[in-house]
Amino acid sequence: MNKTKPPATPGNIHTKSVDLPTDTGRRKALLAGLGAAGGAAAAGLMTPSRALADPANLPPNVADWSKVLGPGVDVAPYGMPSKFEKTVIRRYVDWLTATPESSINFTPLYALDGMVTPNGLCFERHHGGVAEVIPDDYRLMIHGMVDRPLVFTYQDLKRFPPQSRFYFLECAANGGMEWRGAQLNGVQFTHGMVHCVQYTGVPLRTLLEEAGVKPKAKWLLVEGGDSAGMNRSLPLDKALDDCMVVYSMNGERLRAEQGYPIRLVVPGFEGNMWVKWLRRIEVGDGAWMAREETSKYTDLMPDGRARRFTWEMDAKSVITSPCPELPCKQKGPQVIKGIAWSGRGKIARVDVTVDGGRNWHQARLEDPVLPKCLTRFYLDGWSWDGNPAYLQSRAIDETGYVQPEMAALQAVRGVNSIYHNNAIQTWRINPTGEVENVRLA
Ligand code: MTE
Ligand code: CO
Repeated sequence: MNKTKPPATPGNIHTKSVDLPTDTGRRKALLAGLGAAGGAAAAGLMTPSRALADPANLPPNVADWSKVLGPGVDVAPYGMPSKFEKTVIRRYVDWLTATPESSINFTPLYALDGMVTPNGLCFERHHGGVAEVIPDDYRLMIHGMVDRPLVFTYQDLKRFPPQSRFYFLECAANGGMEWRGAQLNGVQFTHGMVHCVQYTGVPLRTLLEEAGVKPKAKWLLVEGGDSAGMNRSLPLDKALDDCMVVYSMNGERLRAEQGYPIRLVVPGFEGNMWVKWLRRIEVGDGAWMAREETSKYTDLMPDGRARRFTWEMDAKSVITSPCPELPCKQKGPQVIKGIAWSGRGKIARVDVTVDGGRNWHQARLEDPVLPKCLTRFYLDGWSWDGNPAYLQSRAIDETGYVQPEMAALQAVRGVNSIYHNNAIQTWRINPTGEVENVRLA
């Protein structure tokens, strides 16, 4: 597992809340208040990548790589990314958790295009480390309120008629560190507990029909075969609707860290319910009130009560470029890029602002726009003039739900929550071109 610190950007971990500048005087005061970043403004913009090139490799010269035979086939029987992309990796924040076995790392969202996450970059969340399940020894048991308790082998599961579907998976804790203020300076860390892949497997409904669910059954207990034995209660109607028991992602077999050989897919619901190394499904008539749905994955409200069974992930979006990892290296035209998603269906619209919410512009949604999937959006045609800019995106899903400002979310939920933060994110572009995570007051 990688143990890589967040990239060292100025003010890497900070809490900051700013007012929007309304005149030059205030703007100056604001910059002064930002310390290192404000001071660097005088130094000018960051080096554009053109200036880093070796002239010997540029036209009309013949580049070095055109003068030699390259490696032949089979040098890498399982292909790897270009060595020039070696910084594009999952990363974790070592102070977040006590041990790497019960921890989380983050998807490098800033470096990705389109709506599919490559398997090796999908964030990981484990409660008891990665289980190494031997496929020949793997079994899935279905029992409880069923006509025929069943035990499936891995091969049994692959004999059922398969289906393939794209879905996002978001951990309910995504953005959990940001509830009280801007905290982590990087989209990888503020929003990187999400990925979107194509799953292949069997509808859970098919397996439940095989076992014959008793008429009084209402709930399932789904349990993992890792050392955490993670378990959750899942309502039967969701199980019969669109859940899947899968063995592949993006066309290849699941990676060990994503639940090899079998995981549960619970489209649109919080990632915790997507049990990996799935070993047991018990059918019952009530919720089990397991640890992960009582002490964890509940939201502590201002009055001391807890919201629970908050399964569906509310609509959310974030700008992935520019962002702290991808500063503006030069003034002029910039394509603003981002992703949006909703656990309730398709993304209907994304709006983008460059002035902290005074004016909103409708973004271009890239195909495919699929339900319960990441949707790529772009705002073309913005030109950065070198002044501070406050970038935000706001997702609206097909149910009409609008992604809220943090103030609106806090007015309802208070500041005690960890989970289910879907507030609008603000990136501030400084005159140096650097981008930082700020909270607009
Ligand atoms: N399943 C088991 N068996 N053990 C786990 O620790 N973590 C859950 C869920 N399923 C977990 C699990 C959580 S909290 C999340 S967010 C997702 O898996 C993460 O899935 P990923 O690691 O494939 O991204
Ligand atoms: Co999670």
